[in-house]
Amino acid sequence: MNRLTAQILDRLHASDGFLSGGELCREFGMTRSAVWKHVSQLREMGYTIKAVSGRGYRLAESPGIPVAAEVSPRLSTERFGRSLVFHGSTDSTNRQAKALARQGAGEGCVVVADLQTGGRGRMRREWVSPAGVNLYFSVVLRPSVSPVLLPQIPLLAAAAVHQALKAAADGLDASIKWPNDIMAGGRKLCGILCEMDSEPDLAHFVVTGIGVNVNLRDIPEDIQDIATSLALETGREFSRAALLASILNRFEPLYDEWLRTGDLEPLLPYLEEHSWLNGREITVEGYNGSLGGTVTGLGRTGELLLRDGDGKVHTVSSGEATIRK
Ligand code: BTN
Repeated sequence: MNRLTAQILDRLHASDGFLSGGELCREFGMTRSAVWKHVSQLREMGYTIKAVSGRGYRLAESPGIPVAAEVSPRLSTERFGRSLVFHGSTDSTNRQAKALARQGAGEGCVVVADLQTGGRGRMRREWVSPAGVNLYFSVVLRPSVSPVLLPQIPLLAAAAVHQALKAAADGLDASIKWPNDIMAGGRKLCGILCEMDSEPDLAHFVVTGIGVNVNLRDIPEDIQDIATSLALETGREFSRAALLASILNRFEPLYDEWLRTGDLEPLLPYLEEHSWLNGREITVEGYNGSLGGTVTGLGRTGELLLRDGDGKVHTVSSGEATIRK
């Protein structure tokens, strides 16, 4: 959706009844046929827009594309999502959010895209990001805490996404795979990539990028064994705008409480209860090599506790976990 189409959609959302074509022409400095083209484009995207001669246009139904006009009315946050930049297509929302953060974007600014041409995952992997089906967004955070606490942010985000998914899809069997994936049916439903700009004692910003497979049904063959979507798990479709607002509505209070206390402990029971890894035998690949063992839980600051074959418990603060078959 280009910017003008999105602005026209905003106006249609904001209007209680019909909005006259003439008013739209004046406001956006365009001809009637240009207005009509934007309306047609919105219809092609799934919006039901009634047009009555002499009265104008009225938005009757919307498909839940995560533009500001759809997301804002559903927000209960103070900061998260109050500034929301939507791209019909972009390379990566993390990349865009980092650029905005460097230009001074405030905490809670969200960049969201319908399509990513260079979506990125952890370990420099690609994040498959087709148009029209999923959620790809990044939140700018400016946490005034010691940088040693920053690795806890993905866990806060994962808990927020997990809560929102459970609220949207009753009965969904989703769990949190430490440190930052959401799994369902043994496959990945959501991935989180945090990137930061920091000095040794101070983080300038942290961008938390979140990708959720929402209505994707045609999973590319090469990731069919490892990826799933909400639609595949539940058999129904979801509004991406509503899901985005719901995630932000949960993420902000979790983050604020954590900022206030500097303590992840209140969230640990939730993370443990919904842990995908607890009790499993895994291998963790980290920067210092790999370690195998059985997961016994989480440490006070969110590290994974791993008991090796000799009964020694290791504290793992980062890495990529795989279940041992
Ligand atoms: C992973 O599991 O490897 C993390 C995937 C993170 C994907 C999201 S989609 C929105 C944001 N933009 C990106 O390029 N990546 C993150």
